[in-house]
Amino acid sequence: MKDTAKSFKRTLVTSALPYANGPVHIGHLAGVYVPADIYVRYMRMRGDDVLFIGGSDEHGVPITIRATKEGVSPQDVVDKYHTIIKDSFEEFGISFDVYSRTSNKMHHETASAFFRKLYEDGKFIEKTTEQYYDTENQQFLADRYITGTCPQCGNEKAYGDQCEACGSSLNATDLINPKSTISGNVPVLKETKHWYLPLDQYEGWLKEWILDGHKEWKSNVYGQCKSWIDAGLHPRAVTRDLDWGVKVPVEGADGKVLYVWFDAPIGYISATRELTPDWEKYWKDEETRMLHFIGKDNIVFHCIIFPAMLKAEGSYIVPENVPANEFLNLEGDKISTSRNWAVWLHEYLKEFPGKQDVLRYVLTANAPETKDNDFTWKDFQARNNNELLAVFGNFVNRTLVLTHKYFDGVIPEVGEMHPEDNAAIEELAAIPGKITYSLDHFRFREALNEMMNMARLGNKYLTDQEPWKKWKTDPERVKTIMNISLQICANLAVVAEPFLPFTAKKLAGFFNLSNLSWENAGKLLAVAGESINKPELLFEKIEDAQIDDQVNKLLKTKEENAAANVEVKPQLENITFDDFSKMDIRVGTILEAEKVAKTKKLLKLLVDTGVDKRTIVSGIAEHYAPEDIIGKQVTILINLAPRKIKGIESAGMILMAENHDGKLCFVSPTEEFSNGSGIS
Ligand code: 2FM
Ligand code: ZN
Repeated sequence: MKDTAKSFKRTLVTSALPYANGPVHIGHLAGVYVPADIYVRYMRMRGDDVLFIGGSDEHGVPITIRATKEGVSPQDVVDKYHTIIKDSFEEFGISFDVYSRTSNKMHHETASAFFRKLYEDGKFIEKTTEQYYDTENQQFLADRYITGTCPQCGNEKAYGDQCEACGSSLNATDLINPKSTISGNVPVLKETKHWYLPLDQYEGWLKEWILDGHKEWKSNVYGQCKSWIDAGLHPRAVTRDLDWGVKVPVEGADGKVLYVWFDAPIGYISATRELTPDWEKYWKDEETRMLHFIGKDNIVFHCIIFPAMLKAEGSYIVPENVPANEFLNLEGDKISTSRNWAVWLHEYLKEFPGKQDVLRYVLTANAPETKDNDFTWKDFQARNNNELLAVFGNFVNRTLVLTHKYFDGVIPEVGEMHPEDNAAIEELAAIPGKITYSLDHFRFREALNEMMNMARLGNKYLTDQEPWKKWKTDPERVKTIMNISLQICANLAVVAEPFLPFTAKKLAGFFNLSNLSWENAGKLLAVAGESINKPELLFEKIEDAQIDDQVNKLLKTKEENAAANVEVKPQLENITFDDFSKMDIRVGTILEAEKVAKTKKLLKLLVDTGVDKRTIVSGIAEHYAPEDIIGKQVTILINLAPRKIKGIESAGMILMAENHDGKLCFVSPTEEFSNGSGIS
């Protein structure tokens, strides 16, 4: 990889602007904001000129859909969520230099001017196409406002851009029986004019810039860019028929706004302008290194479309790197705002007050850097209790408490150095370089592990040296041991800052250290003769009960989602009484049950039907264990023609009720009935 860290005068770090249609969750944090914040904090400690840009993405269909759902205006939606998001980021320690929003005036002006410049320079092509229109509401329909039957899988609730049942990406005109979700009517096709950015014209430049020039990008990012470029780029519409967004600032564009993915990345520029009059230095000087922190679903927009826009404009720089992450799942399931399957930051902050660093730690240790990863509450608890508390916290606490006990809180002098002391100091000095290397290459998990290696080093050193055993016999030796342990603690205050800023601040406070710089990391920072303050615990144990509460909260969400998804099948065609009376249904008792070999679903049952004892093969093995159903009374269709299932003759069918989620249960008499009783 190229070591770009030293060849630029300044760095501009942008982090994806979250849609203000919901609060932020751990997926956003792990993918974008925690790594970006670590990186920026590290750069600040190096004394580099760095700006950290954030803000809310307040336009587009996700916002208008939310507004319709909540029965409020889009402005109400963004006002509510922008505030929640901004406040929770702040409390969580995401240290933006500016956190702006795209509904503000500065952004509308900036995005408008950007569009006009491209328009006037003839960089767009204009095209008229046919799009779906809702005649009742007199509006063109964005893809998400059209549903219909998926031509691939028959799902009747596919959207105009995608079928969520089979994952196919669709055009609205592909849908069978399209319907407007606004009026419920069948939409008509109507001509509309839009402006397109001819991405095909930038293909050669993109190839050279990314495929030849940025082979050092993360392989997931480079790979996605390559497949887009190799597949051939096409003109892309940058305007939409919608009434929420930045108005298209040209003649003949009434009722049209900029496509949200055209205006949102310009939001990075607007936010920089809002922050400093010197903004052009960060956007238009080749000596600025721009980095976009994003999730993998944003790669094409940040690596292909936005750079093509910047290139078309002509006076801007393009990103030097785009360290995009994969996705974080939650307890094995995809995080989803609409299904409420998430750990919401604002709720976490309320439920785990003062534990920002625990979440930062867990999300970094488990960051989806190269593949999707899973967050589980058990892992959260284990990492807190076994790593932060047992290693980091335990080491710092023992060191500070012993210093107070033996030396009244005054840092002792070093005496004669033993080989193990020299080894510890050497190891200490080597760690910051390793962290630097990992951070410079956007390997945050690796960097965090190196930071923890410093705590592990201290913990092991103190445990091996056992000052508590030497205090009576060799107090001089204890001075050296405590001095070295204190050096490690003070260094932790420096190297932990980017990862665990709240903890680092407390730790620095114990030593009265201020203005910590990365340059000093690995050096002897604890000065003999100076006093340290009274320690307080850095981490607390997280109890099972707290974790159970969180797991139960998720289980409740699962139940609510399942209940909301209940779809009662329509009634079948009528049958006659004669049809019904042909079925001979009886009460019977299960006498024996065993699994059918080499199958997942089948149980072989011996049932007393009152008429006889017979074998029935039933597909209930995933719902009942054989040993649990012996003696159970059930209802059986006994005159179903016998058939062979997996080589076993099955004579009849056990009647089962099937829940909306596929769960099966017996239909049994509510009190004991004699076998053979008829059902009519
Ligand atoms: O995917 C998203 O959540 C978008 N709101 C990200 C926008 S990033 C930038 F371009 F503003
Ligand atoms: Zn489908």
